[in-house]
Amino acid sequence: MAEHTEVFIIGAGAAGLMCAITAGQRSRRVILVDHANRIGKKILMSGGGHCNFTNTTVSAQHYLSANRHFVKSALARYTPEHFIALVQKHQIAFHEKESGQLFCDQSSKQIVAMLEQECVATGHVKIRTQCSLLSCRKEDGIFHMETSQGAFTAESLVIATGGLSIPSLGATGLGYQLGRQFGHSVQTTRPGLVPLTFTGRPLEQWRGLAGVSLATVETRLQKQRFRAGLLFTHRGLSGPAILQISSFWQEGNPLDIQLLPETDLSAHLLRQKKRQPQLSLKNALSELLPKSLAQHLSEQYPLQQNLGNYTDAELVSLAPQLQNWSVLPSGSEGYRKAEVTLGGIDTSQLSSSSMESQLVSGLYFIGEVVDVTGWLGGYNFQWAWASGHAAGMQV
Ligand code: FDA
Repeated sequence: MAEHTEVFIIGAGAAGLMCAITAGQRSRRVILVDHANRIGKKILMSGGGHCNFTNTTVSAQHYLSANRHFVKSALARYTPEHFIALVQKHQIAFHEKESGQLFCDQSSKQIVAMLEQECVATGHVKIRTQCSLLSCRKEDGIFHMETSQGAFTAESLVIATGGLSIPSLGATGLGYQLGRQFGHSVQTTRPGLVPLTFTGRPLEQWRGLAGVSLATVETRLQKQRFRAGLLFTHRGLSGPAILQISSFWQEGNPLDIQLLPETDLSAHLLRQKKRQPQLSLKNALSELLPKSLAQHLSEQYPLQQNLGNYTDAELVSLAPQLQNWSVLPSGSEGYRKAEVTLGGIDTSQLSSSSMESQLVSGLYFIGEVVDVTGWLGGYNFQWAWASGHAAGMQV
Protein backbone atom coordinates (compact mmCIF):
# COMPACT_ATOMS: atom_id res chain seq x y z
CA MET A 1 0.00 0.00 0.00
CA ALA A 2 1.40 3.42 -0.99
CA GLU A 3 2.07 6.03 1.70
CA HIS A 4 0.04 9.14 0.94
CA THR A 5 1.30 12.69 1.49
CA GLU A 6 0.20 16.12 0.41
CA VAL A 7 3.59 17.20 -0.95
CA PHE A 8 6.35 14.95 -2.31
CA ILE A 9 9.68 16.70 -2.97
CA ILE A 10 12.55 15.04 -4.85
CA GLY A 11 15.95 16.52 -3.93
CA ALA A 12 16.97 17.62 -0.42
CA GLY A 13 19.31 20.37 -1.54
CA ALA A 14 18.93 24.11 -0.97
CA ALA A 15 15.69 24.53 -2.93
CA GLY A 16 14.01 21.30 -1.79
CA LEU A 17 14.74 22.02 1.89
CA MET A 18 13.39 25.59 1.65
CA CYS A 19 10.27 24.35 -0.12
CA ALA A 20 9.72 21.69 2.59
CA ILE A 21 10.10 24.28 5.38
CA THR A 22 7.68 26.72 3.75
CA ALA A 23 5.07 24.06 2.98
CA GLY A 24 5.52 22.48 6.44
CA GLN A 25 4.96 25.87 8.10
CA ARG A 26 1.64 25.98 6.24
CA SER A 27 0.82 22.62 7.88
CA ARG A 28 1.15 20.75 4.60
CA ARG A 29 2.33 17.17 5.07
CA VAL A 30 5.64 16.83 3.22
CA ILE A 31 7.89 13.91 2.29
CA LEU A 32 11.32 15.05 1.10
CA VAL A 33 13.49 12.36 -0.53
CA ASP A 34 17.07 12.32 -1.75
CA HIS A 35 19.14 9.51 -3.21
CA ALA A 36 22.28 10.75 -1.44
CA ASN A 37 23.26 9.52 2.01
CA ARG A 38 22.87 12.99 3.52
CA ILE A 39 21.01 16.20 2.79
CA GLY A 40 22.47 19.44 1.42
CA LYS A 41 25.78 18.08 0.16
CA LYS A 42 26.41 21.08 -2.11
CA ILE A 43 25.65 23.48 0.71
CA LEU A 44 28.31 21.70 2.78
CA MET A 45 30.89 22.11 0.00
CA SER A 46 29.93 25.66 -0.86
CA GLY A 47 31.94 28.82 -0.36
CA GLY A 48 35.06 26.87 0.52
CA GLY A 49 33.19 25.31 3.50
CA HIS A 50 31.76 28.68 4.63
CA CYS A 51 28.69 28.81 2.34
CA ASN A 52 28.19 32.09 0.52
CA PHE A 53 24.49 31.80 1.37
CA THR A 54 23.21 35.00 -0.26
CA ASN A 55 24.13 38.34 -1.77
CA THR A 56 22.63 41.60 -0.54
CA THR A 57 22.71 43.09 -4.07
CA VAL A 58 20.47 40.42 -5.68
CA SER A 59 18.50 41.53 -8.73
CA ALA A 60 17.31 40.00 -12.01
CA GLN A 61 20.46 41.24 -13.78
CA HIS A 62 22.52 38.68 -11.83
CA TYR A 63 20.82 35.73 -13.53
CA LEU A 64 21.09 34.05 -16.93
CA SER A 65 17.92 32.57 -18.40
CA ALA A 66 16.16 32.48 -21.75
CA ASN A 67 13.58 34.72 -19.97
CA ARG A 68 15.48 37.22 -17.83
CA HIS A 69 12.25 38.49 -16.20
CA PHE A 70 11.25 35.07 -14.86
CA VAL A 71 13.18 35.39 -11.57
CA LYS A 72 11.69 38.73 -10.55
CA SER A 73 8.51 37.61 -8.80
CA ALA A 74 10.08 34.91 -6.61
CA LEU A 75 13.14 37.05 -5.77
CA ALA A 76 10.90 39.96 -4.75
CA ARG A 77 8.86 37.82 -2.37
CA TYR A 78 11.77 36.02 -0.70
CA THR A 79 14.65 38.47 -0.39
CA PRO A 80 18.19 38.18 1.02
CA GLU A 81 16.82 39.93 4.16
CA HIS A 82 14.42 37.03 4.74
CA PHE A 83 17.25 34.51 4.64
CA ILE A 84 19.51 36.73 6.77
CA ALA A 85 16.73 36.92 9.39
CA LEU A 86 16.61 33.11 9.45
CA VAL A 87 20.39 32.90 9.85
CA GLN A 88 20.24 35.46 12.67
CA LYS A 89 17.39 33.59 14.38
CA HIS A 90 19.71 30.56 14.53
CA GLN A 91 22.56 32.77 15.82
CA ILE A 92 24.86 31.84 12.97
CA ALA A 93 27.65 34.40 12.75
CA PHE A 94 28.40 35.68 9.25
CA HIS A 95 30.42 38.32 7.46
CA GLU A 96 30.42 40.17 4.15
CA LYS A 97 33.40 39.26 2.04
CA GLU A 98 33.01 41.62 -0.89
CA SER A 99 30.26 43.05 -3.10
CA GLY A 100 27.42 41.94 -0.84
CA GLN A 101 28.57 38.30 -0.57
CA LEU A 102 27.62 36.86 2.84
CA PHE A 103 29.52 33.88 4.27
CA CYS A 104 29.27 31.92 7.53
CA ASP A 105 32.10 32.79 9.93
CA GLN A 106 32.36 29.16 10.97
CA SER A 107 30.96 26.47 8.71
CA SER A 108 28.44 25.61 5.98
CA LYS A 109 27.34 22.78 8.29
CA GLN A 110 25.47 25.42 10.30
CA ILE A 111 23.27 26.27 7.31
CA VAL A 112 22.39 22.61 6.70
CA ALA A 113 21.70 22.10 10.42
CA MET A 114 19.52 25.23 10.43
CA LEU A 115 17.46 24.03 7.47
CA GLU A 116 17.05 20.58 9.00
CA GLN A 117 15.95 22.07 12.34
CA GLU A 118 13.42 24.27 10.55
CA CYS A 119 12.00 21.20 8.77
CA VAL A 120 11.68 19.35 12.10
CA ALA A 121 10.17 22.40 13.82
CA THR A 122 7.21 22.42 11.43
CA GLY A 123 6.20 18.96 12.63
CA HIS A 124 5.01 18.15 9.11
CA VAL A 125 8.17 17.25 7.16
CA LYS A 126 9.64 13.74 6.86
CA ILE A 127 13.08 13.43 5.26
CA ARG A 128 14.24 10.20 3.65
CA THR A 129 17.81 9.90 2.39
CA GLN A 130 19.17 7.07 0.20
CA CYS A 131 15.79 6.97 -1.48
CA SER A 132 15.92 6.60 -5.27
CA LEU A 133 13.01 7.21 -7.59
CA LEU A 134 12.20 4.21 -9.77
CA SER A 135 9.15 5.58 -11.59
CA CYS A 136 6.67 8.39 -11.44
CA ARG A 137 3.29 9.07 -13.10
CA LYS A 138 0.15 11.12 -12.62
CA GLU A 139 -3.17 9.33 -12.60
CA ASP A 140 -6.64 10.60 -11.58
CA GLY A 141 -5.14 13.87 -10.33
CA ILE A 142 -2.63 12.12 -8.03
CA PHE A 143 1.13 11.58 -8.46
CA HIS A 144 2.30 7.98 -7.95
CA MET A 145 5.97 7.40 -7.12
CA GLU A 146 7.76 4.05 -6.88
CA THR A 147 11.00 4.41 -4.93
CA SER A 148 13.69 2.21 -3.44
CA GLN A 149 11.87 2.80 -0.10
CA GLY A 150 8.38 1.88 -1.28
CA ALA A 151 5.46 3.49 -3.05
CA PHE A 152 4.12 7.00 -2.39
CA THR A 153 1.19 9.05 -3.63
CA ALA A 154 0.95 12.83 -3.44
CA GLU A 155 -1.20 15.75 -4.50
CA SER A 156 1.80 17.94 -5.35
CA LEU A 157 5.13 16.83 -6.76
CA VAL A 158 8.13 19.16 -6.54
CA ILE A 159 11.26 18.50 -8.60
CA ALA A 160 14.30 19.97 -6.82
CA THR A 161 17.02 17.72 -8.17
CA GLY A 162 19.46 20.50 -9.15
CA GLY A 163 21.74 20.49 -12.19
CA LEU A 164 24.42 18.21 -13.59
CA SER A 165 27.39 19.84 -11.86
CA ILE A 166 29.63 17.67 -9.70
CA PRO A 167 28.17 14.16 -10.11
CA SER A 168 30.23 13.00 -7.11
CA LEU A 169 27.99 15.24 -4.93
CA GLY A 170 24.84 13.47 -6.16
CA ALA A 171 24.00 15.44 -9.31
CA THR A 172 21.94 13.58 -11.92
CA GLY A 173 19.79 14.49 -14.89
CA LEU A 174 16.63 13.14 -13.23
CA GLY A 175 14.91 16.54 -13.14
CA TYR A 176 15.30 17.06 -16.88
CA GLN A 177 14.15 13.50 -17.54
CA LEU A 178 11.00 14.01 -15.43
CA GLY A 179 10.42 17.38 -17.10
CA ARG A 180 10.50 15.77 -20.55
CA GLN A 181 8.29 12.91 -19.34
CA PHE A 182 5.63 15.46 -18.36
CA GLY A 183 5.94 17.32 -21.68
CA HIS A 184 8.29 20.16 -20.65
CA SER A 185 10.93 21.62 -22.93
CA VAL A 186 14.47 21.70 -21.61
CA GLN A 187 16.88 24.49 -22.59
CA THR A 188 20.24 23.02 -23.62
CA THR A 189 22.42 22.46 -20.56
CA ARG A 190 26.13 23.28 -20.24
CA PRO A 191 28.58 23.82 -17.38
CA GLY A 192 28.73 27.32 -15.84
CA LEU A 193 31.02 29.02 -13.32
CA VAL A 194 33.74 26.68 -14.50
CA PRO A 195 37.53 26.92 -15.07
CA LEU A 196 38.49 27.28 -18.75
CA THR A 197 41.03 25.03 -20.43
CA PHE A 198 43.56 25.75 -23.16
CA THR A 199 45.66 23.63 -25.49
CA GLY A 200 48.70 24.27 -27.67
CA ARG A 201 50.78 27.43 -27.52
CA PRO A 202 49.05 29.42 -24.73
CA LEU A 203 49.11 26.46 -22.38
CA GLU A 204 52.78 25.76 -23.15
CA GLN A 205 53.60 29.40 -22.50
CA TRP A 206 51.75 29.41 -19.16
CA ARG A 207 53.17 26.09 -18.01
CA GLY A 208 55.44 27.64 -15.40
CA LEU A 209 52.65 29.85 -14.09
CA ALA A 210 50.32 27.19 -12.60
CA GLY A 211 49.35 28.37 -9.12
CA VAL A 212 50.13 32.05 -9.83
CA SER A 213 47.23 34.35 -9.02
CA LEU A 214 46.34 37.99 -9.62
CA ALA A 215 44.07 39.90 -7.23
CA THR A 216 42.22 41.78 -9.98
CA VAL A 217 41.91 41.37 -13.72
CA GLU A 218 39.03 42.34 -15.98
CA THR A 219 37.54 39.62 -18.18
CA ARG A 220 35.40 40.74 -21.10
CA LEU A 221 33.13 39.02 -23.55
CA GLN A 222 30.85 41.17 -25.67
CA LYS A 223 28.97 43.37 -23.16
CA GLN A 224 29.92 41.35 -20.07
CA ARG A 225 32.76 42.53 -17.86
CA PHE A 226 33.92 41.14 -14.54
CA ARG A 227 36.64 42.52 -12.28
CA ALA A 228 37.92 39.88 -9.89
CA GLY A 229 40.81 37.50 -9.28
CA LEU A 230 42.51 35.20 -11.80
CA LEU A 231 44.41 31.96 -11.23
CA PHE A 232 46.68 30.11 -13.67
CA THR A 233 46.07 26.36 -13.49
CA HIS A 234 47.82 23.33 -15.01
CA ARG A 235 45.14 23.19 -17.71
CA GLY A 236 44.31 26.87 -18.21
CA LEU A 237 42.68 29.66 -16.24
CA SER A 238 40.44 29.85 -13.19
CA GLY A 239 39.62 32.31 -10.39
CA PRO A 240 36.43 34.33 -9.93
CA ALA A 241 36.89 36.57 -13.01
CA ILE A 242 37.20 33.49 -15.23
CA LEU A 243 34.37 31.56 -13.51
CA GLN A 244 32.03 34.54 -13.96
CA ILE A 245 32.80 35.03 -17.66
CA SER A 246 32.72 31.25 -18.31
CA SER A 247 28.91 31.28 -17.95
CA PHE A 248 28.74 33.62 -20.96
CA TRP A 249 31.48 31.90 -22.98
CA GLN A 250 30.67 29.56 -25.87
CA GLU A 251 33.19 27.39 -27.70
CA GLY A 252 35.06 29.26 -30.44
CA ASN A 253 34.75 32.68 -28.75
CA PRO A 254 37.94 34.53 -27.85
CA LEU A 255 38.02 36.19 -24.44
CA ASP A 256 39.63 39.50 -23.50
CA ILE A 257 41.58 39.75 -20.27
CA GLN A 258 43.01 43.01 -18.99
CA LEU A 259 45.80 42.72 -16.45
CA LEU A 260 46.07 45.48 -13.83
CA PRO A 261 42.76 47.11 -14.88
CA GLU A 262 43.08 49.66 -12.10
CA THR A 263 46.59 50.76 -13.08
CA ASP A 264 47.73 53.19 -15.73
CA LEU A 265 50.68 51.06 -16.79
CA SER A 266 52.18 53.51 -19.27
CA ALA A 267 52.14 56.26 -16.59
CA HIS A 268 53.83 53.84 -14.16
CA LEU A 269 56.55 52.95 -16.67
CA LEU A 270 57.19 56.61 -17.61
CA ARG A 271 57.41 57.54 -13.92
CA GLN A 272 59.85 54.72 -13.21
CA LYS A 273 61.91 55.63 -16.28
CA LYS A 274 62.38 59.13 -14.84
CA ARG A 275 63.23 57.83 -11.36
CA GLN A 276 65.38 54.78 -12.22
CA PRO A 277 66.44 54.71 -15.89
CA GLN A 278 68.72 51.74 -15.08
CA LEU A 279 65.77 49.57 -13.96
CA SER A 280 64.97 46.81 -16.44
CA LEU A 281 61.45 46.76 -17.85
CA LYS A 282 61.00 43.26 -16.46
CA ASN A 283 61.81 44.45 -12.95
CA ALA A 284 59.56 47.47 -13.36
CA LEU A 285 56.71 45.03 -14.14
CA SER A 286 57.63 42.85 -11.16
CA GLU A 287 56.72 45.78 -8.95
CA LEU A 288 53.09 45.31 -10.04
CA LEU A 289 52.84 41.65 -11.08
CA PRO A 290 54.10 38.33 -9.69
CA LYS A 291 57.75 37.82 -10.71
CA SER A 292 56.99 34.67 -12.72
CA LEU A 293 54.36 36.52 -14.76
CA ALA A 294 56.73 39.43 -15.40
CA GLN A 295 59.28 36.83 -16.54
CA HIS A 296 56.68 35.24 -18.82
CA LEU A 297 55.87 38.65 -20.35
CA SER A 298 59.54 39.37 -20.81
CA GLU A 299 59.77 36.20 -22.90
CA GLN A 300 56.92 37.37 -25.14
CA TYR A 301 58.20 40.91 -25.62
CA PRO A 302 61.71 42.42 -25.74
CA LEU A 303 61.67 43.54 -22.12
CA GLN A 304 65.26 42.90 -21.18
CA GLN A 305 66.42 46.43 -21.75
CA ASN A 306 66.58 49.14 -19.13
CA LEU A 307 63.74 51.64 -19.06
CA GLY A 308 66.13 54.40 -20.08
CA ASN A 309 66.75 52.67 -23.43
CA TYR A 310 63.09 53.04 -24.48
CA THR A 311 61.62 56.23 -25.87
CA ASP A 312 58.52 57.48 -24.06
CA ALA A 313 56.47 56.65 -27.16
CA GLU A 314 57.75 53.06 -27.11
CA LEU A 315 56.74 52.62 -23.47
CA VAL A 316 53.32 54.13 -24.09
CA SER A 317 52.66 51.75 -26.98
CA LEU A 318 54.05 48.68 -25.15
CA ALA A 319 51.88 49.09 -22.04
CA PRO A 320 48.53 48.14 -23.64
CA GLN A 321 50.16 45.17 -25.41
CA LEU A 322 51.35 43.85 -22.05
CA GLN A 323 48.05 44.51 -20.30
CA ASN A 324 45.46 43.40 -22.86
CA TRP A 325 45.32 39.73 -23.75
CA SER A 326 42.98 38.07 -26.20
CA VAL A 327 42.82 34.35 -25.48
CA LEU A 328 40.95 31.49 -27.10
CA PRO A 329 39.93 28.80 -24.60
CA SER A 330 39.69 25.30 -26.06
CA GLY A 331 37.00 24.21 -23.59
CA SER A 332 36.07 24.06 -19.93
CA GLU A 333 36.69 21.66 -17.06
CA GLY A 334 33.09 20.48 -17.55
CA TYR A 335 30.50 19.33 -15.03
CA ARG A 336 33.23 17.70 -12.94
CA LYS A 337 34.33 21.14 -11.75
CA ALA A 338 31.45 23.47 -12.70
CA GLU A 339 29.65 25.15 -9.81
CA VAL A 340 26.41 25.33 -11.74
CA THR A 341 24.53 24.10 -14.80
CA LEU A 342 23.24 26.59 -17.35
CA GLY A 343 19.96 25.82 -19.12
CA GLY A 344 17.32 23.45 -17.77
CA ILE A 345 13.53 23.34 -17.52
CA ASP A 346 12.18 26.02 -19.85
CA THR A 347 10.64 28.85 -17.84
CA SER A 348 8.00 29.60 -20.50
CA GLN A 349 5.98 26.59 -19.27
CA LEU A 350 6.24 27.50 -15.55
CA SER A 351 4.43 30.06 -13.42
CA SER A 352 6.97 32.65 -12.27
CA SER A 353 5.06 33.26 -9.04
CA SER A 354 4.65 29.64 -7.89
CA MET A 355 7.02 27.58 -10.11
CA GLU A 356 4.03 25.36 -10.98
CA SER A 357 3.96 23.68 -14.37
CA GLN A 358 1.50 25.21 -16.83
CA LEU A 359 1.18 21.77 -18.45
CA VAL A 360 0.56 19.51 -15.42
CA SER A 361 -1.22 20.94 -12.38
CA GLY A 362 0.41 20.11 -9.05
CA LEU A 363 3.86 19.66 -10.62
CA TYR A 364 6.58 22.16 -9.62
CA PHE A 365 10.23 22.75 -10.61
CA ILE A 366 12.53 24.76 -8.32
CA GLY A 367 16.19 25.67 -7.93
CA GLU A 368 18.95 24.92 -10.37
CA VAL A 369 16.97 22.39 -12.43
CA VAL A 370 15.11 25.40 -13.88
CA ASP A 371 16.69 27.45 -16.68
CA VAL A 372 17.93 30.08 -14.21
CA THR A 373 21.62 30.43 -13.36
CA GLY A 374 23.11 33.05 -11.08
CA TRP A 375 26.46 34.78 -11.15
CA LEU A 376 29.12 33.74 -8.69
CA GLY A 377 28.62 35.30 -5.26
CA GLY A 378 25.62 33.81 -3.41
CA TYR A 379 23.10 34.44 -6.20
CA ASN A 380 22.51 30.75 -6.88
CA PHE A 381 21.56 29.98 -3.30
CA GLN A 382 19.27 33.03 -3.22
CA TRP A 383 17.49 31.63 -6.28
CA ALA A 384 17.19 28.23 -4.59
CA TRP A 385 15.71 29.80 -1.42
CA ALA A 386 13.37 32.12 -3.36
CA SER A 387 12.07 29.54 -5.84
CA GLY A 388 11.73 26.95 -3.05
CA HIS A 389 9.76 29.44 -1.00
CA ALA A 390 7.53 30.38 -3.98
CA ALA A 391 6.56 26.74 -4.56
CA GLY A 392 6.27 26.04 -0.82
CA MET A 393 3.63 28.78 -0.54
CA GLN A 394 1.39 27.08 -3.10
CA VAL A 395 1.88 23.28 -2.90
P1 FDA B 1 21.20 20.96 -5.21
O1 FDA B 1 22.20 20.42 -6.15
O2 FDA B 1 21.65 21.73 -4.03
O3 FDA B 1 20.28 19.78 -4.66
C1 FDA B 1 19.75 18.78 -5.49
C2 FDA B 1 19.52 17.56 -4.65
O4 FDA B 1 18.86 16.60 -5.47
C3 FDA B 1 20.80 16.91 -4.17
O5 FDA B 1 20.74 16.72 -2.78
C4 FDA B 1 20.88 15.61 -4.94
O6 FDA B 1 21.47 14.56 -4.19
C5 FDA B 1 19.41 15.34 -5.22
N1 FDA B 1 19.22 14.50 -6.41
C6 FDA B 1 19.81 14.65 -7.62
N2 FDA B 1 19.42 13.64 -8.42
C7 FDA B 1 18.59 12.85 -7.69
C8 FDA B 1 17.91 11.64 -7.98
N3 FDA B 1 18.04 11.02 -9.16
N4 FDA B 1 17.13 11.10 -7.00
C9 FDA B 1 17.03 11.70 -5.78
N5 FDA B 1 17.68 12.84 -5.46
C10 FDA B 1 18.44 13.40 -6.41
N6 FDA B 1 26.06 28.88 -4.81
C11 FDA B 1 26.02 29.99 -4.03
O7 FDA B 1 25.07 30.76 -4.11
N7 FDA B 1 27.03 30.23 -3.12
C12 FDA B 1 28.10 29.39 -2.98
O8 FDA B 1 28.96 29.59 -2.12
C13 FDA B 1 28.17 28.25 -3.84
N8 FDA B 1 29.24 27.41 -3.80
C14 FDA B 1 29.25 26.27 -4.56
C15 FDA B 1 30.33 25.39 -4.47
C16 FDA B 1 30.34 24.22 -5.23
C17 FDA B 1 31.53 23.30 -5.15
C18 FDA B 1 29.24 23.93 -6.08
C19 FDA B 1 29.21 22.67 -6.87
C20 FDA B 1 28.17 24.80 -6.17
C21 FDA B 1 28.16 25.99 -5.43
N9 FDA B 1 27.10 26.88 -5.51
C22 FDA B 1 27.10 28.01 -4.72
C23 FDA B 1 25.92 26.59 -6.35
C24 FDA B 1 24.80 26.01 -5.45
O9 FDA B 1 25.34 24.96 -4.67
C25 FDA B 1 23.64 25.49 -6.28
O10 FDA B 1 23.22 26.46 -7.19
C26 FDA B 1 22.48 25.10 -5.36
O11 FDA B 1 22.90 24.08 -4.48
C27 FDA B 1 21.27 24.63 -6.15
O12 FDA B 1 20.31 24.18 -5.26
P2 FDA B 1 19.28 23.03 -5.69
O13 FDA B 1 18.54 22.69 -4.45
O14 FDA B 1 18.55 23.42 -6.90
O15 FDA B 1 20.20 21.81 -6.11
